[in-house]
Amino acid sequence: MSAKTGPTPIELPRGLAGVIVAETAVSDVRGDEGFYQYRDRSAIELAASATFEDAWQLLVTGDPATDASRGAFAGRVAAALERRDDLDAVVAAVGAATPDVLAGLAAAWPLLGARRGIRPLYDLDDGQRLDDAISLAAWTPILIGALWRRAHGEAVLPVLTGRGIVANYLHQVTGVAPDEATERALSAYLIAVMDHGFNASTFTARVIASTGADAAACLVGALGALTGPLHGGAPSRALDGLDAVGTADRIEPWIRGELAAGRRLMGFGHAVYRTADPRAELLKEVAMRTGGPRVELAVRFQETAERLLAEAKPGRELHANVEFWAALVMERCGLPRSMFTPTFAVGRTIGWTAHILEQARDPKIIRPSARYVGPQVRAAAA
Ligand code: ACO
Repeated sequence: MSAKTGPTPIELPRGLAGVIVAETAVSDVRGDEGFYQYRDRSAIELAASATFEDAWQLLVTGDPATDASRGAFAGRVAAALERRDDLDAVVAAVGAATPDVLAGLAAAWPLLGARRGIRPLYDLDDGQRLDDAISLAAWTPILIGALWRRAHGEAVLPVLTGRGIVANYLHQVTGVAPDEATERALSAYLIAVMDHGFNASTFTARVIASTGADAAACLVGALGALTGPLHGGAPSRALDGLDAVGTADRIEPWIRGELAAGRRLMGFGHAVYRTADPRAELLKEVAMRTGGPRVELAVRFQETAERLLAEAKPGRELHANVEFWAALVMERCGLPRSMFTPTFAVGRTIGWTAHILEQARDPKIIRPSARYVGPQVRAAAA
């Protein structure tokens, strides 16, 4: 009789690069083609033309927003946003502890969830999980806006009636009701980053969802991964690069110095794209529409960086990624640098929640193995 054994261990590439670890119908990234899609729609087309609300509906429910379905989704969102006292209590508690919006958001989601009796995904049916997913995503831009205002000693501004989520978010953070072009520019950014395959933060959310934990716990983990400079923490650092060069004549020596010192150029390179990042191309167009010396400097910076990276890493295809042009767009929209990563989270929360729902339908826990390379067990000293 043979002894029962576990699965035979197999070695995978570092960083799991190129390894398929799940099936998903949320989004697909085709790195060799410079293309990605949300459900059955081109993500870039959506970013260029859809509203935040419609793209959200498509990603999280899988159903396109139509005249017939839009009202029902908006009704679910409105219902989720009832009980304003929850927001006030959480923002007061978290805001008293820290003015840091990212740390505040990471604390606020589970607190909000606890106040609302959020339960483990494991114990819920699909409909209840969708309610939680919509509720957390609906609260996110409002929480971030309120945490930002509180950190600056300002009261939360009244809702701009007749305007959508993006306009209201900009209103809270900048203090100004945005014009249509600004709203459209930020909308393009937020939709473009709503989802992107199995990036590090989405994978993190799915690992937590696979344990059956509640959706707020999944978001906290995902946010932690997003904040890293190699992921969603890059955009403000991309602007630091532009600040450091200051003028076009200093671009090349500065970049050469960074590469010679073994530092990475923030806003360049991508784990999956071996072509231009389509999101960077879209956002470059958005930034170019407004123009100005800062954008001209960025164009020159991009050209030089791509040339020098090709020289430094021949054959690697390192191009500007979404973060580089996102930083320019967010700056033009009046968002302060410290709000770049929280703003990324406003968009990416939509994708995280869609993936959490998908993962929750699969009862298999994600639990890989590691090869032990430490010392062998020593006999205890007598
Ligand atoms: N600057 C300098 N060198 C780079 C850069 C960069 N921006 N990006 C990659 N490289 C180098 C790597 O060090 C590696 O060198 P090596 O082969 O000598 O070790 C080589 O180019 C190839 O790297 P890849 O395999 O293409 O990249 P990887 O998948 O490891 O990393 C990452 C991808 C993390 C995005 C990387 O390009 C990077 O650190 N970029 C800067 C940070 C950044 O912009 N992050 C935002 C990414 S977009 C997002 O998350 C939404």
